[in-house]
Amino acid sequence: MKILAIDTSCDETAVAIIENDRILSNVLSSQIQAHQEWGGVVPSLAKRKHEELINLVLETALKRAKVRLEDIDAFAVTKGPGLAIALEVGIRKAKDLAHQFNKPLIPINHMEGHIYSALAKNSQGNPVFEYQFPLLALLISGGHTEFVLMMNHGQYEILGRTLDDALGESYDKVGRIMDMGYPAGPVLEKIAEKGDENKYDLPMPMQNSGNANMSYSGLKTAAMKLVSDELKEPLNKYGQKFHDSLQHKNVEAVHSNYDQSKVIADISASFQKAAVGQVLGKTKFILDKLKNEGQEIKDLIIAGGVSQNKYLRKKFKSSFGSEYRIHYPTDKKLYTDNAGMIGIAAYFNALQGKTLSDPHDINKLDRDPDWELSEI
Ligand code: KG4
Ligand code: ZN
Repeated sequence: MKILAIDTSCDETAVAIIENDRILSNVLSSQIQAHQEWGGVVPSLAKRKHEELINLVLETALKRAKVRLEDIDAFAVTKGPGLAIALEVGIRKAKDLAHQFNKPLIPINHMEGHIYSALAKNSQGNPVFEYQFPLLALLISGGHTEFVLMMNHGQYEILGRTLDDALGESYDKVGRIMDMGYPAGPVLEKIAEKGDENKYDLPMPMQNSGNANMSYSGLKTAAMKLVSDELKEPLNKYGQKFHDSLQHKNVEAVHSNYDQSKVIADISASFQKAAVGQVLGKTKFILDKLKNEGQEIKDLIIAGGVSQNKYLRKKFKSSFGSEYRIHYPTDKKLYTDNAGMIGIAAYFNALQGKTLSDPHDINKLDRDPDWELSEI
């Protein structure tokens, strides 16, 4: 079964071609540069960029997969969650295609896509791996920090989430005031490698709350206060150099030329220890609780932008690697927002008959910016 999938939920214009659980092509055009000068995503700009880019991205995806539109068996699109006016662009396109080729349309939850990003295979059918239900999925990105119990394909229970900022967002905000550009997460991780993570004691709230929720705003505020207390000089020129240098992989060189570099590295490392420590603590709490309830979990999925973080991976491996199989997306494109993961999710939805075939039902499909996984 060949599926053409579209995701325009945030700042990536993305189209992919899928054959069953294999990704034949996964094309995205990132708008990061357009949003960079604003320090975050601007919805109206995202919408305009999606409209400009979608046809080109779609043609590129078909060309790379060596597939014609006539060969597509179904169209899939992200219905939510995401930015309303951005989601609309992809939905309109998918509806037009479904009508034009008289094929079914499969509406997909973006977070379900992130879970399936760790279960995707490439065009050769690799990697080969095993997993079983129920499994625990941890979704950590700039917009989400959620623990999801996946009972089976298409069956989700949200066990807990952040009550305020997302994990990636806290990296971005703390990194931003140290002038690390946008998104600051990868830069902060790199800088933290040089720091002493025990230098500053930063808060890890809700560790003993008795539930699976988290909070990142206290940590963010404490880290930001630390920056203003400890850093005496303004950072402006230094920061942009950081960010630019990351593209050329010489962050260390720029960093070591700066005389406050030690303080910045120590703050970054201490922040990261508390930020990742919070996720680790909650994961342990959840796994222990599930075990006590008699649920046999063998597999963990960790997906979303922050799952690229090597410090976090190392910690998860040492804490849970001997008892659980930990699955991450295996292709770089699958970490960020992309349509490959939407197509894989759509394939499993199609197997369960969750498709819209009647033209009236297709017409009625509307975006749902706050669509919860548990509502599927
Ligand atoms: O999933 P994603 O590409 O977009 C959404 O938020 O949906 O995630 C982007 C987020 C940003 O907050 C970025 O700073 C963070 O993921 N991120 C990282 C790393 N790589 C990306 N955070 C910490 N360490 C990293 N290596
Ligand atoms: Zn996402």
